[in-house]
Amino acid sequence: MTEKTIPVHAEHDHHDDAHACMSRRQFLLAGGAMVTLAAIGLPGEAEAAPLHALKAAYPQTKIGSLAALKKGVPVEFAYPYPNVQNILVKLGVKGGGGVGAQQDVVAFNQQCPHMGGPMQGTYKDAFQALGPCPLHLTTFDLTRHGMVISGHATESLPQIVLEVRGDDIYAVGVQGLVYGYSAMTSVATKRA
Ligand code: FES
Repeated sequence: MTEKTIPVHAEHDHHDDAHACMSRRQFLLAGGAMVTLAAIGLPGEAEAAPLHALKAAYPQTKIGSLAALKKGVPVEFAYPYPNVQNILVKLGVKGGGGVGAQQDVVAFNQQCPHMGGPMQGTYKDAFQALGPCPLHLTTFDLTRHGMVISGHATESLPQIVLEVRGDDIYAVGVQGLVYGYSAMTSVATKRA
């Protein structure tokens, strides 16, 4: 993965170039914070042109260890705020953004990006999928950066960016916008 960090300002002209051409949602994600344009690849698409995603950086937080993870058994953790609940899971197959020797350890927010449906307890190990959401039945593919498999949601599930040091797993950023937040910045700006 290649990446570069750029400052994003409110007056940024989003017609400047291809990298800076952001939708309103992406612009809100930037929210004046430092964001990273990360070139990401999907499993099995090593030769494909890289995609560019916005990643908000947060303080690095230890959330678990590789040795303690069991395949298909999600572990819950809060990040980047105490009320933002996520899962850390060993998929057993390579996942986009995955860490560990098999690149199969990933982490995702558990709140549906459509209308905030709670998806705790819905991980399906047989399909490496989260869902269906209890409100409108969207299901998300955790091997492909949380892409929608089916359902009403149009946005991918926010992915927690991970790094490994030794056996320890750290959360270091968020890729996507957690439901209910107008921006993912270092200061919480949850909508009323
Ligand atoms: S809130 Fe999850 S699909 Fe609508």
